[in-house]
Amino acid sequence: MNKEFDVIVVGELNVDLILNQIESFPEMGKEKLAGKMDLVLGSSSAIFAGNLSSLGAEVGYIGKIGNDMFGHLIVESLNKKNVNISLIIVDEHLKTGATVVLNYDEDRAMVTHGGAMEHLSIADIKKEHLQKAKHMHVSSVFLQPGIKENIIDVFKLAKENGLTTSLDTQWDPAEKWDLDLNNLLPLVDVFIPNEEEIKHLTGKQNVNDAIDMLNGFANTIVVKMGSKGSVSWHKGQLNEVPAFLNKNVVDAIGAGDSFDAGFIFKYIKGLSIAECQKFGNLTGAINTTASGGTAAFKDYQSIMEIAKTKFGYSE
Ligand SMILES: Nc1ncnc2c1ncn2[C@@H]1O[C@H](COP(=O)(O)OP(=O)(O)O)[C@@H](O)[C@H]1O
Ligand SMILES: [Mg+2]
Repeated sequence: MNKEFDVIVVGELNVDLILNQIESFPEMGKEKLAGKMDLVLGSSSAIFAGNLSSLGAEVGYIGKIGNDMFGHLIVESLNKKNVNISLIIVDEHLKTGATVVLNYDEDRAMVTHGGAMEHLSIADIKKEHLQKAKHMHVSSVFLQPGIKENIIDVFKLAKENGLTTSLDTQWDPAEKWDLDLNNLLPLVDVFIPNEEEIKHLTGKQNVNDAIDMLNGFANTIVVKMGSKGSVSWHKGQLNEVPAFLNKNVVDAIGAGDSFDAGFIFKYIKGLSIAECQKFGNLTGAINTTASGGTAAFKDYQSIMEIAKTKFGYSE
C-alpha cells in the first residue's frame, strides 16, 4: 500500500541558543560577554528527522510548539529539510521549548525550558496520522512527560495500525530511568539507546549484561558505542560492528541521531539488521565530519560523496 510517509517521528521540538567564545564561566551577579551566538533548530528528534529526509525518506513529524518566533523558526527549518510539518501542533497557550547552550572550551553547560514539548500527549497522536506511515520512531521520551505517561499505548496504537517501530530513549535529565521495559519493548521492533543509556535503564554495569536482561522480551536491540561503533542483538546473535574511523572529529553532536537515521533508512527498505547497523555506523561517522548534527547531511549524493572520500565506502 502507498503511504504518505515512510517514517513518522514522535518527538520533542526546541530551539538551541548557542553562545560561544564566552570570556569565562558565568558567575552569580556578574555579566560575561560571548563572542559568538547562534539560534538554530535543536531537538535530537529533529536532527533524526532532517537527516533521514536528506537521505531520501519521506518523513512526517508529530510534535508541539507555541505560536511564537521560536516555533516559527522550527517549522521553517524542518520545512527546508523537506520534513512534512502538517502534523505539528501549534498551541496558542504554550511557549516553544528552548535550550541555552553555553560552550566553554571543550565543555558545555545547558539549561532547557521544555515548554510546549512537555504537553504533547497520546491524545495528539491520531490513528489517522499513524496510518499515513510505514514506521514510527519515538525519541527523547524523558523530555516528553505527556508521551512518557502513555508510552506503551503509543506503541500499541502504532502496532495495531500496522507500523514497524523504533525507540531511542535518549538521556533522562531526572536520572530516574523509570520505563516499564518489560511491557514496552515487545512493542518496539528496534530499540536504539546508547551505551550509557542502556546501562542506566537496566541498572547493569556493562552492555552485555544489559542486553542479557532485555533479550527475553525485546525484539532487536542496537547499542551505540561512540568511537567504538555499535553492537546489536537480533534473533539470538550478538553483532559488534566497529566504527568508521574518523581521525579528525569536528564534534559528535547528533552522532547518535544520525546513526538512527542511517539505520532506519535501511530498515524501512527491508535490509538485514547487519546492513542497517553498518549504514548507521557510517552516518554516525559522517555526522562527526562537520559541526553540529545536520551540516554533513545535505542530500543523498553529497552524503555518499563524504562516505566515499572520507571512509572509503561505496554501494
Ligand atoms: N569519533 C567517532 N568516529 C567514528 N564514528 C563515530 C564517532 N563517534 C560516534 N560515531 C558513530 O556514531 C554512532 C553514534 O554515536 P554515539 O556517540 O554512540 O551516540 P549518542 O550521540 O547517542 O551518544 C556510533 O555508534 C558510531 O558508529
Ligand atoms: Mg543519543
